[in-house]
Amino acid sequence: MAGVVILTGAGVSAESGLGTFRDVGGLWTRYDLTEVATPEGFARNPALVHDFYNARRANALDAAPNAAHLALARLLDARPDVTLVTQNIDDLHERGGARAVIHMHGQITRARCAACDHRWDAPRVMDRSDACPACARPATRPDIVWFGEMPYHMDRIADALAACDLFVAIGTSGEVYPAAGFVEEAAAFGAETLEINLEPSAPGRFDRVIQGPATEAVPAWVAEVLAT
Ligand code: APR
Repeated sequence: MAGVVILTGAGVSAESGLGTFRDVGGLWTRYDLTEVATPEGFARNPALVHDFYNARRANALDAAPNAAHLALARLLDARPDVTLVTQNIDDLHERGGARAVIHMHGQITRARCAACDHRWDAPRVMDRSDACPACARPATRPDIVWFGEMPYHMDRIADALAACDLFVAIGTSGEVYPAAGFVEEAAAFGAETLEINLEPSAPGRFDRVIQGPATEAVPAWVAEVLAT
């Protein structure tokens, strides 16, 4: 098997205590995403948006990587032909030992200037009055891709999808594009497709489904791959 692309979603961090979005009690059942995860929402009320991401940053920094993050790091170490793309903004893949993680929706640990696009490591708590370290304007925002914005690294991801023999989606509902379209894109290039999820996202969408919690299903799958 030469060339594997893995896409993770909130389900891979769920057992680390970080909420998902669309499960029962998920973030988007408690917050109006148009207020806290769109450029318009940020323009209307930057303080509300910073409060929302300050809470998610604290949760992420206080969480620990779980067995799924650790297993994926082992796989990446053993197999240089594996590309890990994540929709998650937490840094649990990195703290679990993974390197070169492609964060297509940005990172909660990074900040960005809405005025000059400068980027830097985010402080634990961000405030709307923070000045950009480069241009000094009070236009700082989390370096996170909001709804309506273009995800990061799409060229690199497209190249990896075109070249892979196996595409694996782990812990994602497959509801948000462009990530939701990666399985079709990889299949169109002849890749086999596998879903690892607590609940299968859509019957028939993947060649193979492994159902179970990520902390059990992912280490078992990684062991299977490393044994071949
Ligand atoms: N193990 C495995 N999968 C799990 C677990 C678990 N313990 N718990 C939940 N899941 C699965 C759910 O079955 C669901 O398919 O994780 C998925 C979570 O789906 P969403 O909440 O929609 O999260 P995600 O797919 O990552 O959302 C994609 O939407 O809001 C945007 O930018 C945000 O990156 C996010 C994107």
